[in-house]
Amino acid sequence: MTDFTPLLSGGSIRFMGDLQLNLITRADVEDIIIMLDEPEVCEYLFFAPAPRSVYEEYFGPIVDLTEEALREQRWPDNPVLIIRDSQQAFVGMVGIVGVMFQQGTYEVGYQMPTRSWGKGIATAGCQLASRIIFTELGGHKAVADCFAGNIGSYRVMEKSGYRREGIQKDYFRHGEGFDDRLLYGMTKSEFDASAL
Ligand SMILES: CC(C)(COP(=O)(O)OP(=O)(O)OC[C@H]1O[C@@H](n2cnc3c(N)ncnc32)[C@H](O)[C@@H]1OP(=O)(O)O)[C@@H](O)C(=O)NCCC(=O)NCCS
Repeated sequence: MTDFTPLLSGGSIRFMGDLQLNLITRADVEDIIIMLDEPEVCEYLFFAPAPRSVYEEYFGPIVDLTEEALREQRWPDNPVLIIRDSQQAFVGMVGIVGVMFQQGTYEVGYQMPTRSWGKGIATAGCQLASRIIFTELGGHKAVADCFAGNIGSYRVMEKSGYRREGIQKDYFRHGEGFDDRLLYGMTKSEFDASAL
């Protein structure tokens, strides 16, 4: 069982052997912006590409609220997990967002720079985020969504115990046309029954 307490003191925990994971700091934002400059990373993201000011305005308050939570040694409302290798190089991020007005329901999202793809890191990150939601945050439901064309993303969810709960046709703009939105979810009882 993972001991998450170092995260709440601003420290890191080991992840997948020699990787490490911490809650987002101001110093992590630049690496996130560099990742979001990669066109391949943005292909299936509805919020990217965007001017860096948009990213700074989004992540700045998250960093502020994370710092405030850590001063009180508690989880932030929207934990963003940053993964780095043993040389401190940025490997990826996994975000947990509390769904507004739905206490106990959390949304999971993950983005990796292309150099990190295909190593199982997003799957392990999604599984760890699910564990945080259900064992640390008191969540009763985890949800995630993606473009139907984003096979890597929905495979991550399926390998993490999420079930496909719906499809919204032509929801996302994609290139010159549209793509469907796949809705995935896992309840607390499904999590408890899984071996994850
Ligand atoms: C989607 C993403 C997070 C996957 O990360 P990853 O670390 O490569 O994923 P994993 O290595 O854990 O792979 C999970 C599964 O997806 C499969 N997969 C990953 N990318 C794939 C692709 N492009 N096409 C088909 N399958 C793919 C893997 O083979 C694996 O399945 P398997 O074990 O059955 O072979 C990564 O490609 C990414 O960051 N993309 C850009 C941002 C993004 O789209 N985020 C999701 C938004 S909803």
